[in-house]
Amino acid sequence: MIPINLPKIGEEEVEAVVKVLRSGLLTHGLGAGPMVTQFEQKFAKFAGAKHAIAVNTGTAALHSAVVGTGVKQGDEVILPSFTFVATAEAVVMAGGKPFFADIDPETYNISPEGIEKAITEKTKAIMPVDLYGLPADMQPIREIADKHDLQVIEDAAQAHGATYKGKAAGTLADAACWSLYASKNMTAGEGGVITTDNDDMAETMRSIRTHGEKEKYKSVMLGYNYRMSEIQAAISCVQLEKLPTFLAKRRENAKRLTEILEKTDKLQLPNEPEGCTSSWYLYTVRLKDSTEEKRNRIVDGLRKKGIGAEVYYVNPVHLMPYYSKTFGKHRLPETEKATKQVFSLPIHPGVTEEQIDYIGKTVLHVLG
Ligand SMILES: Cc1ncc(COP(=O)(O)O)c(C=O)c1O
Repeated sequence: MIPINLPKIGEEEVEAVVKVLRSGLLTHGLGAGPMVTQFEQKFAKFAGAKHAIAVNTGTAALHSAVVGTGVKQGDEVILPSFTFVATAEAVVMAGGKPFFADIDPETYNISPEGIEKAITEKTKAIMPVDLYGLPADMQPIREIADKHDLQVIEDAAQAHGATYKGKAAGTLADAACWSLYASKNMTAGEGGVITTDNDDMAETMRSIRTHGEKEKYKSVMLGYNYRMSEIQAAISCVQLEKLPTFLAKRRENAKRLTEILEKTDKLQLPNEPEGCTSSWYLYTVRLKDSTEEKRNRIVDGLRKKGIGAEVYYVNPVHLMPYYSKTFGKHRLPETEKATKQVFSLPIHPGVTEEQIDYIGKTVLHVLG
């Protein structure tokens, strides 16, 4: 099976981990050991941000950012339902109420018009997600946020290396959150980072990650253990150096696959809107005018032929049992339609040209 994603780990990562193990300093009491600090400096530069705060998961990054930007009990946060559940979870963990807005059917990202319609007097923040690695339409989102005095927390978990109007994804947000989970464009196995230009928010998020402390045993606010270990940071430093090579291979694979799949008119292929580049975390196609059953048959057919096609996401968050029961009904026709029609194909850096040709030809064959 050609898996949908696979971490690319080499001897450099192994050596970096061994070095940390030999040093004896596996983690740091305030989460700010030498490897973590080095990684934060490198990641801040990469993301074009003043601060990077390393934590132990992307979910921890999101939760810290939601709390750090000031979301409190009862505040509403507007976000897409077409995302991984962690985006909504972070809002609920902070005591906020997720308010789901619909997506743009071309990009699958939250639609600025949908956001405008969802604003109430309780709205405190907007959480766009850079789905599949394509940045959300941040300029209009920033304008809406400024007009209504709202915070913007960008879920850039899938977007390492993506750009929006010539700048790194995340730069138009008040805080951007990145995941270093094993499937992501760069990984530490588990890990996360928050980037921000705001000094006060950065300080708050640094406290949140280590029990609300600025100094040991002097908690100034409610915090958690969200510290990244020195081992995770050592892997992350190496992966960040390799990221440009990984991204180039993903882009090359995406281009080659598009050249093959353009031969059918049954699929809506992924696109980079003017001024945007994708990180190509996932190559997601839509089976036009399809039913869920028909799409599932195609995915099963591909899996039988050794292609690890997957559906992200079979269930939008607002239809998950807990979220529908707790936060009620939302009318999201574009989200519900996309959920039934999309599927993703492997293009990660471990996929060879020959495998891309095989994936492309097999998709055309299975589509009939
Ligand atoms: C869009 C999105 N948000 C949040 C997360 C959560 O990140 P993590 O798994 O590192 O907690 C992920 C990845 O898993 C994701 O894809």
